[in-house]
Amino acid sequence: MQPSIHRHHYTLLVALVLADAAAAAWLWDPSVLLAWPLWALVALTAVAEALPVELPQGRGSVSVSFPLIFTSSMVLGPFAGFVVGLLGTLTADELRGRVPWLRMALNHLQLALAGAVSGLAYVSLERLWGSPLGVWTGLLAGGLLYFIVNAGSVSLMVSLYHRMSVLHYFKSSVLGTVPNYLALIPISYVMASVYQSLGVAALAVFFLPLLVARQSFKLYSEMRQSYREMIVALTRALEAKDPYTAGHAERVSGIAVHLGKVMEMPEEDLEILEIVGLLHDIGKIAVPDSILNKRGRLTPEEYALMKKHPVTGHEIVRNIHFLGKGQEWVLHHHEHWDGRGYPDGLAGEAIPLGARVLSIADAADAMLSDRPYRRAMRLIEACRQLARASGEQYDPTVLRRFFELCADERFAKEILRQPAPISAAELGELIALPEMAAARREAAAARPRDSAPADGGAPEGSERA
Ligand SMILES: [Fe+2]
Ligand SMILES: [Fe+2]
Repeated sequence: MQPSIHRHHYTLLVALVLADAAAAAWLWDPSVLLAWPLWALVALTAVAEALPVELPQGRGSVSVSFPLIFTSSMVLGPFAGFVVGLLGTLTADELRGRVPWLRMALNHLQLALAGAVSGLAYVSLERLWGSPLGVWTGLLAGGLLYFIVNAGSVSLMVSLYHRMSVLHYFKSSVLGTVPNYLALIPISYVMASVYQSLGVAALAVFFLPLLVARQSFKLYSEMRQSYREMIVALTRALEAKDPYTAGHAERVSGIAVHLGKVMEMPEEDLEILEIVGLLHDIGKIAVPDSILNKRGRLTPEEYALMKKHPVTGHEIVRNIHFLGKGQEWVLHHHEHWDGRGYPDGLAGEAIPLGARVLSIADAADAMLSDRPYRRAMRLIEACRQLARASGEQYDPTVLRRFFELCADERFAKEILRQPAPISAAELGELIALPEMAAARREAAAARPRDSAPADGGAPEGSERA
């Protein structure tokens, strides 16, 4: 973690401590602390926190801790919401000391504040307008305030940690949870009614649907994992034809997902990117081994056969419905930014973003791997080669984000499997290179289309990546 990120998190911590202290002082009610139902609610919330249901496609998770905290406020007052938010959400990992203290403190302080403000809104509006208008406006205002405090703090914390925009994190990971919050507001009211008629033990009945949902999600995750394993097996079978490309598809998939993330692609597109990364060259199954494994340059006829693989690949994945727009990314992963690629000669933003990301991930991995016709390049050499084709073969914006990723130690070592990232000076050089290359291109005479005969011509590794 960077020191500046720590600084922002400490600022957030101070703000939350002050807000929580003010809320606790204002709502202080020692009689609540002596009421055993409060501690029963704390225990039930802890059980709910231990049983979250993950939503498909990284759309967050659902637990019934929000309605339990809100219910506590409704039946025992806002101070109870504060206490249940602060203590009921402690997890086993936190109690074992496996969670960094700063993250733990920020999380519990924001939940205590969310419990307090939601309870305060409900109780105030209910007293002001009486039942039923006060109840419904109180539920809505309380639920909304809980969401604002909770989602706002989490978005801020995560975006600071991952150095991404708050708005992007909110839109890609939090906005999708709004329907869950809305659905849980009336459940809070039902829980409060059950508590008042039948007592705190009756709330346990709300855990049954949660357990059913958890089981369904477990089956969904296992099925998804099986699909992925089948696709990996298929790509390995293809790569067995050519020992030089072993692991290429899995590496391209990993690079593309990281690049897609920094390009702020939506979560569901990143899932597609992971699978399309694995499948992008599946059309090479129709290319003869003699061409795939050829050591020298390809003849124009061989090159023409090789160029068919995106179309063949598209025909193969066309019926895989869950790939959705990813089918087009397979088709267009060899298009060039300037329109000189294949199969359709698309240019600029007419090429789908997923295909532009794949194209860079594909070329980078090819350059960083041994090939029959050359040794693997060093990271900076590969980046220089990519930079020279910026604006010609590759989208300059995506390429620049790729270079920034290459300066990140974790990405360079874990994803690209390089001994070290590029330095800040090298990053500066790479950012300047495309402008110099563009000036050179302008000075050069216009060249005829489709002049690159084999794996050379355009940047190395691009045609046979
Ligand atoms: Fe390809
Ligand atoms: Fe490839």
